[in-house]
Amino acid sequence: MKFAKVTARLGGLGSDKWAVHIEGRRRAALGEPMIFLSIGEPDAPPPAAILDEATRQMHAGRLGYAEGRGEASVRHALARLYTRQTGRAIDESQFIYLPGTQSALYAAMMAVVDEGDEVLVADPYYATYEGIIAAAGGIKAPIRVDPDHGFHLKAADLEKAITPKSRVLLMNTPSNPTGAVFTRSEIEKIGKICERHDLWIISDEVYATMTYGNSVFSSPFDIPELEKRTVVVSSISKSHALPGLRAGWIAASAEFCNRCIPVTETMLFGSQPFIEDAAAFALDNHFPEIDAMKRAYEQRARALVKSLEGSKTVSARMPEGGMFVMVDVRKTGLSGEDFARRLLAEENVVTMPGESFGAGGSGHLRVALTVGVEEITEASRRIARLAERI
Ligand SMILES: Cc1ncc(COP(=O)(O)O)c(C=O)c1O
Repeated sequence: MKFAKVTARLGGLGSDKWAVHIEGRRRAALGEPMIFLSIGEPDAPPPAAILDEATRQMHAGRLGYAEGRGEASVRHALARLYTRQTGRAIDESQFIYLPGTQSALYAAMMAVVDEGDEVLVADPYYATYEGIIAAAGGIKAPIRVDPDHGFHLKAADLEKAITPKSRVLLMNTPSNPTGAVFTRSEIEKIGKICERHDLWIISDEVYATMTYGNSVFSSPFDIPELEKRTVVVSSISKSHALPGLRAGWIAASAEFCNRCIPVTETMLFGSQPFIEDAAAFALDNHFPEIDAMKRAYEQRARALVKSLEGSKTVSARMPEGGMFVMVDVRKTGLSGEDFARRLLAEENVVTMPGESFGAGGSGHLRVALTVGVEEITEASRRIARLAERI
């Protein structure tokens, strides 16, 4: 039987990137003690009150078909959230509720990219971006960002990468894997270029609540002149430690939402009303557990960076946000891939090779901040030990 080309375009993506993680899982299943720093899955439990709300709404009968653009409960909560964030009145017609950032990314890309259109993206980039771009028939146009400048995208490099086929800038702040957080002034400069070349900005803000030190989150959606060309995608997967709830959204212009809804409805025919209510509750309330979680990620990052300070061969910078640290192993002469494989084989520590996130991640490991300070310090000791041996 003949399959559609999209299956081939997407078929080759994926499994190689996760090879070290998969091997780590295999060895763990055999009973070997491994330290897993490979996946961005929050380790803290979510606020119990959100689960109670989901249960309450389920028992209250919120189990029918939902509105295609999302139930009023969650769209109103989103309107309140983004009105607070932007300081402008943001209307509930400017949202589509979707099961997670991933599906929001997919829908957004389908709504703006035609076959052969180029999607500009800072390299290294989140592992599923390649697939999302390819699914829509787009062409990935990676822009290398410099590790020695904190992996920040320079406006001049963006400008140089633009061609007549460029259609979208796909940005991610705070970034997975790099931990870079765009400043307001960087977004203004980048935004001017996008205006000049009439580019869409898809802004993945799934780590928006997680910034450290003096870093402050800002979004192109906050800038009034950029609102109509910006499509924000986000969720409560990371902010509230609830990836399994699959509660995410698009925030954009009402016109974008109206054009995109048929794309999402074709696939989903709505989501689960009781989960949408729980997401609304999560967005409307403050939870001390979330502050504690953010503090824990920051402490772990500081512990990792400090523990590597004594090493002459490996180093790490404090991330500005997100849940990952990039460890620079370039001085060992090994690729991130080879280092990650040896780290797994010789030190029982499972990380992601930087190359899994594009050529811009080469010579690095991505370390997830999902274990406690003691364990992460032990892992960094082993990373340094392997580096000295090499
Ligand atoms: C940058 C980025 N975007 C999107 C996602 C997917 O998030 P969600 O669980 O909301 O689909 C992740 C998950 O790791 C991520 O790191």
